[in-house]
Amino acid sequence: MTKKSILITGGAGFIGSHVVRLFVQKYPDYHIFNLDKLTYAGNLKNLTDIEQAPNYTFIKADLVDALAIESLFQKHQFEGVIHLAAESHVDRSITNPMDFVMTNVVGTVNLLNAAKNAWKADFNNKLFYHVSTDEVYGSLHDGGFFLETTPYDPQSPYSASKASSDHFVRAYHNTYKIPVVISNCSNNYGPNQFPEKLIPLFINNIRNNKPLPVYGKGENVRDWLYVVDHARAIDMVYHKGKNGETYNIGGFNEWTNIDLIKVVCKTMDVKLGRTPGTSEQLITYVTDRAGHDLRYAIDAQKIMRELGWEPSLQFEEGIEKTIDWYLTNQQWMDEVTSGDYANYYDNLYGNR
Ligand code: NAD
Ligand code: TYD
Repeated sequence: MTKKSILITGGAGFIGSHVVRLFVQKYPDYHIFNLDKLTYAGNLKNLTDIEQAPNYTFIKADLVDALAIESLFQKHQFEGVIHLAAESHVDRSITNPMDFVMTNVVGTVNLLNAAKNAWKADFNNKLFYHVSTDEVYGSLHDGGFFLETTPYDPQSPYSASKASSDHFVRAYHNTYKIPVVISNCSNNYGPNQFPEKLIPLFINNIRNNKPLPVYGKGENVRDWLYVVDHARAIDMVYHKGKNGETYNIGGFNEWTNIDLIKVVCKTMDVKLGRTPGTSEQLITYVTDRAGHDLRYAIDAQKIMRELGWEPSLQFEEGIEKTIDWYLTNQQWMDEVTSGDYANYYDNLYGNR
């Protein structure tokens, strides 16, 4: 029997690697193709435990290369696409917006074109699943939550590029009838996240006794979800989501940055055997991020009600597992912070 071929893009990145692992292990009857350009954020070491699996193949390719993407669809007859590849860091989008336009907008349209051309004779049993972010809804200022019906109001070059890609996915569904689902998730945390994002950056800095750069007053609010729970949600949306629908995914787990940072500091003091209060002394308030969104908060009731998803981990348990992972995988951290990382860090934080 031929296995069902599924293309996962961005599978060497943070969330993508958890999705690839889940699908490779849970679905031996699928063949999982992981397409990734291996940018600074892509790391095949995230997948060493499954790289030899018979139902897994890695493909190094750039989504911006339309011809390469077209020919991959001709060669492999993918039946499903789960599209996670993206430039994903807001601070980088402020310094280099065009990288975000190329990968997130042009790359997504290239992928849509390739899927449309390969599938147009028969859209049965095909699905293009676009993984997006809650940041497309903008910034909440007074209570309330993001619903699937909340109007888009992106505020950063990153969220504008993701919003644009979401619009293209819906436009291709409406115009060409390509079967699609979209999900918009809140902030993820967990193993294998590149240490430019808040939680792994601060864990690494605490370990190395480096300052913890808190933007502005630390009052911004984010809604945090353990990455494996996002991967489980993606599995459910892929298999049970309705064609053309959008699902918001979030943990009902809001924290101001400063409160979250204090939890990380306290847990790190315990894990490293330091006197309570030691890590908090590293907190350093720095110039705020330009256009910094105040609050994100997802209402995830639709996916809970319609697909039966719910987060499996409480935040306290998730953050402890996360810190344990970074402390026991110091080599992973050392590898990803070698090379260009020092330049990136100096450029971003040197002048704040
Ligand atoms: P990441 O930056 O860790 O990984 C992105 C991956 O995409 C990397 O492996 C990179 O090599 C690959 N990639 C980048 N440009 C590419 C290109 N042109 N061609 C092929 N591959 C390319 O990102 P992440 O945090 O894992 O996010 C994955 C997806 O989930 C993104 O679409 C992001 O917008 C979305 N998302 C992320 C979060 C979060 O908190 N991290 C929350 C909601 C949604
Ligand atoms: P981040 O992990 O970059 O995710 P996002 O901007 O997509 O929400 O940042 C999470 C929050 O932490 C955000 O409000 C910005 C803030 N932050 C800092 O205060 N200092 C930092 O060094 C970083 C990277 C983020």
